[in-house]
Amino acid sequence: MRGVTVAQEERDGLVEAGWLLEAVAGVFRAVGFGEDAASVVAESLVEADLRGVSSHGAMLVPMYVDRILAGSVSRKESAEVVVDLGAVAVLDAGDALGQLTSDQAMALAVAKAKKHGVGAVAVRHAFHFGGAFRYVQAAAASGCVGIAAANTRPLMPAPGGAQPVVGNNPIAIGVPGKDGHPVVLDMALSEAALGKIRIAAAEGREIPVTWATDAEGGPTTDPNAALKGMLLPAAGHKGFGLALIVDVLTGVLSGGSSGSKVKGLYADVSVPNDCAHFFLALDLASFGDADGFADRMAALAAEVTGSPTAPGVDRLYLPGQIEAERSDTAAARGVKVEASVLKALQETAAKVGATLPEVRR
Ligand SMILES: NC(=O)c1ccc[n+]([C@@H]2O[C@H](COP(=O)([O-])OP(=O)(O)OC[C@H]3O[C@@H](n4cnc5c(N)ncnc54)[C@H](O)[C@@H]3O)[C@@H](O)[C@H]2O)c1
Repeated sequence: MRGVTVAQEERDGLVEAGWLLEAVAGVFRAVGFGEDAASVVAESLVEADLRGVSSHGAMLVPMYVDRILAGSVSRKESAEVVVDLGAVAVLDAGDALGQLTSDQAMALAVAKAKKHGVGAVAVRHAFHFGGAFRYVQAAAASGCVGIAAANTRPLMPAPGGAQPVVGNNPIAIGVPGKDGHPVVLDMALSEAALGKIRIAAAEGREIPVTWATDAEGGPTTDPNAALKGMLLPAAGHKGFGLALIVDVLTGVLSGGSSGSKVKGLYADVSVPNDCAHFFLALDLASFGDADGFADRMAALAAEVTGSPTAPGVDRLYLPGQIEAERSDTAAARGVKVEASVLKALQETAAKVGATLPEVRR
């Protein structure tokens, strides 16, 4: 009997991925976006949920919509090209939804890489682009190594500091892999993403002591104390240094905002987030031996995943592999969406006059 109950509970947490896509896209259409733009944003968010990165999934919809309604996210569907010189471009996103301007920026970086071997695009006055994996997967699908990065508001102190000075700036690197499965390293430069702490707070769960400090910089496992404190960098001073460099490649290089000029997503939704993005594409064919690259890459991947496992470990993974396999399973069986996230999505839909289809599980 207990087994039946558990199975029912598990099913209750799952929704059909197609339904979630329709629902999220419907909300963005209702708030003023065209069919294609609404689908791009929905794809980005739902793919994060499918990959198990729920902190960057449908839970973001209410915040995005509140910002659109407050005017701090514009209804523009593309960025303005302000510099276009050989392999380099700079875009001004004009506070448009980050998924729209980031698809545009990476497509431009790839086009430049196809022509020059390398393409680099910096984007200023941007908004949150969701999970960085989307853009490097697109580059990899075009035969390029892709790099995508963003800055966030300061969340982490310098080593020994008592005030946040750099964001947990995400960086993703995607590499074309065998049979169309890219290697995708996609990570925030904090030990954990802020969204994961928010989820723990909403669910009343403790967090690991390595994730964050409290307001005084002391250790904590309380997610609410952590939300008032500072995130800790991944790998200590090394993660801090990388986060600072991402702030340089995004905000400083693009002529946009860096450091404390980048604002929080949730604090005051009428104030633009004003983050910045950076996209790099390296065309493998231009390096002269795309087939050889594929063989060498496959050999390296096999060496890693075929290496001996430590006691109690079944299997070794490449970066991005766990998420890709989770995504395949969720696409077939249903995607996990917390009841609170589903409720907030339905409330947001009602607020903007979107009629959502009946939930399909
Ligand atoms: N837009 C923004 O401002 C922003 C800010 C922060 C984070 N993010 C996003 O948040 C998401 C989550 O980031 P995160 O740092 O929590 O990711 P994470 O710590 O879950 O994973 C980081 C990387 O490690 C790899 N990995 C995990 N376990 C592994 C294993 N056992 N073997 C081999 N590789 C393994 C993953 O595939 C991934 O590439 C990312 O999509 C990131 O882009 C976005």
